[in-house]
Amino acid sequence: MYSEKVMDHFQNPRNVGEIENASGVGTVGNAKCGDIMRMYLDIDDNGVIKECKFKTFGCGAAVATSSMATELVKGKTIQEALEVTNKAVMEALDGLPPVKVHCSLLAEEAIHAALWDYAQKNGIVIEGLEKPVSDISEHEEAGEEEY
Ligand code: FES
Repeated sequence: MYSEKVMDHFQNPRNVGEIENASGVGTVGNAKCGDIMRMYLDIDDNGVIKECKFKTFGCGAAVATSSMATELVKGKTIQEALEVTNKAVMEALDGLPPVKVHCSLLAEEAIHAALWDYAQKNGIVIEGLEKPVSDISEHEEAGEEEY
């Protein structure tokens, strides 16, 4: 049911933990399944993501997708990180079962929330970044036909 990569990232998740004095922190949840995700980003003066860590109270697919998402955004610029969508994360993991696709949204939205926090703290606007919602199940309903 799950790809080897998903199992690997679930059993050995990368970048679990928190960053003290992070440049940006984002927390999102999905009220439907009750899962919560918090993402920490450390961003340097050139706008490059040096470090990315996560903590989750989420299912296995949420753990695996967040682990992969942190690996994908590390070393990227803010603009490049915005391109790390849940679809990109799922592709990097060789796919997810359809009923678990929504889990991959937690990581994407938590990264966006952390970037939003960074922008707020620094008084900047990140082009293409929309204000995050704290409950992503609202998003799901709006775009249900996509999944
Ligand atoms: Fe909630 Fe997977 S079931 S994130």
